[in-house]
Amino acid sequence: MEFTLPTLRKDEIAALKLRALFETAGYKLFRMGSFEAYDLYMQNKSFLSSDDIITFTGADGRLMALKPDVTLSIVKNTRPNEARRVYYNESVFRRSRDTGEYREINQTGLECIGFEREDSEAEVLKLAAESLSLLGESSLDISHMGLIEAVLAGFSDAGLRADALAALRYKSEHDMFGIAKAAGLSDAAAKRMAELSGLSGPLSATLTLARRLTSDMPDAAGPLDELDSICRTLEGADLKTALNLDLSILNDVDYYNGVIFRGFLKGMARYALAGGRYDNLMARFDKSQGAIGFALYLDTLEQVTPDAGPNKDQTRDWLNIALPKGRMGDSVLECFEKAGYICGGAFADSRRLVYEDEAGRVRYYLVKPGDVDSYVEHGVADIGVVGKDLLLESSADVLELADLKLGVCRLVTAGKPDFVEDPALPLRVATKYPNIARRYFADKSRSVEIIKLGGSIELAPLTGLSDIIVDIVESGTTLRENNLVVLSEIAPSSARLIANRASWSFKNAQIRALLERISVERRQETASGTGQTK
Ligand code: PRP
Repeated sequence: MEFTLPTLRKDEIAALKLRALFETAGYKLFRMGSFEAYDLYMQNKSFLSSDDIITFTGADGRLMALKPDVTLSIVKNTRPNEARRVYYNESVFRRSRDTGEYREINQTGLECIGFEREDSEAEVLKLAAESLSLLGESSLDISHMGLIEAVLAGFSDAGLRADALAALRYKSEHDMFGIAKAAGLSDAAAKRMAELSGLSGPLSATLTLARRLTSDMPDAAGPLDELDSICRTLEGADLKTALNLDLSILNDVDYYNGVIFRGFLKGMARYALAGGRYDNLMARFDKSQGAIGFALYLDTLEQVTPDAGPNKDQTRDWLNIALPKGRMGDSVLECFEKAGYICGGAFADSRRLVYEDEAGRVRYYLVKPGDVDSYVEHGVADIGVVGKDLLLESSADVLELADLKLGVCRLVTAGKPDFVEDPALPLRVATKYPNIARRYFADKSRSVEIIKLGGSIELAPLTGLSDIIVDIVESGTTLRENNLVVLSEIAPSSARLIANRASWSFKNAQIRALLERISVERRQETASGTGQTK
C-alpha cells in the first residue's frame, strides 16, 4: 500500500530542521511530562514571564501545574556539577497578553550547562544565529546584563533606576536625557546616557561606540570584553543572520545575568527567539555551574504577516505608518507633511483610511488614537504616532523613538474644589484610563473603585457617579467650565513616535531616515516657537 505523506506545517518543518542542527552540534533530546508540582513555579515566580499558571489537584492531593516553562524543569533535573548539552521540543502553557486567554505554545530550545563560559557563549549564540537562518531572513540582537547594570548604576541613589531601565527598554532617548538630568548628571553625561539608550546597530561597530560612551563606567569594561570575544567568534563563522548590539532587549524574566539575546524573523511582528546566560537561576537551585540557553517560539511561524496593504508589490519594502485621527491628528499630519512625508490633504477630503505614496514606498493608515499602538505592536504598521497617555495605559511592547512635543497635556486627578476624601471608604474614580488609575492609587496603597467611561469624564463627579476623575488636561478649559480643579499630577503626556521591534531590525534604514527628517522638522518648529500645537 502506498502512502502520500501529508504536507508538513511550517512549525513541524522548523522543528525537524532544528533537531538536526542541535543533534549535529552534540545536544541530546530532553523529554519531560506536561506538568510539574506547582511548588517549583511558586518558589521561582520571578523567573517566569507571568504569574498565570494553570493548576489542578493531582491524584495524591498535591497541587500540580501545566508547565509554563521548560528551563526550570531542566535546571531542577540537572545534578550539581553535571555538564550537559540538551535540547527540547515541548508545549508550554501561558496566558496571552493580547487576548487574556491561555495558550499552548510550541517551544524548541537548548540549554548548555556546566561548560567553560566563553566557549559555551560563542557556541550557543552561533547555534541561535544558525537556528534563525534555517527559518528565514533573520537578525540576532545581543546585549549583556552586566553592561545594563553598569549603565544603571548611577541612577539607584536618585531612586530613578526603574525609570532609567524603562528608557533603555523602550529605546527612549528623550526620556533618558530627562532622567539623567534629574539624577544630577551634566548635559554631556546625560547626552551620552541618551545615546546609550538608543544604541543599536551592527555588532562590531556598535561595540566600539559602546566603549566610547561607557568610558567613565568601570563596570562596563568586563561585559564589553566578553561581547568583543563573542563578536570575534561569530564574525569568523560566516553566519547568514545579521548580528546587532541593542541595549533595548531586556527580557521579561529575571533569569539572566550575562549575555542576553533575541532573534527576529522577517515578517514576524514579535521576536522568535529569546535566550541568555542564567547562572542566577542555577545558583537558586544550589548548582554552581554556569548555564546558557535559548527558546524558539515555533507556533508564531504560522503568523508571518504578508505585506497586507492594498498594493502587494514586494519588490521593495513598504514602510507602513499608523497615524491618529482626532484632536492630535491634524498637527501630526502637518508635521509629517512638513518633513516631506505625506502629501497635503491626502486624508482631508474623504473618509479614506489608507493612503499610499507609491514613489516613496510609504503607506499611511489613519486609525483611532487608542488603536495606533496595537497596529504597531502587531507589526501591521512599522511605526506610528500615539499619545504617551495611551501608551502608559496599554503598556504596548513597542519602541518609543521620539517625543514629537505635539498634543502636550498632563494626566491628573481632578474633582470638585471642596472635595474631602474619606480614607475609610474606597475612592470612586471615573476615567478613560483604568490601568493608569489602578497603578497610580496602588502605588499610594489607596483602595479604589474604578468606573470606566468612554468620554465626558468631567460629568462623573458633577453627577455623583464618582468622587474624582483621572483624565488628561490640555488647556484646562473643560475643568474650568465644569467647576472642577486639578487635585494631583500623575504624568506629563505628548505625542510619541513608536516603532515595532522587528521592523526596527528589518526596516532600520527607512525608520532612521524618517526619524531624522521628523526630528529636524520638530527642532525647526520648536525654534520658531510654533511647535506646540493643540
Ligand atoms: C479630553 C479630556 C478632557 C479634555 C481636556 O476630552 O478627556 O475632557 O479633553 O482638554 P482641555 O483641558 O483642553 O479642556 P476629549 O476632548 O478628547 O473628549 P471626550 O470627553 O469625548 O473624551
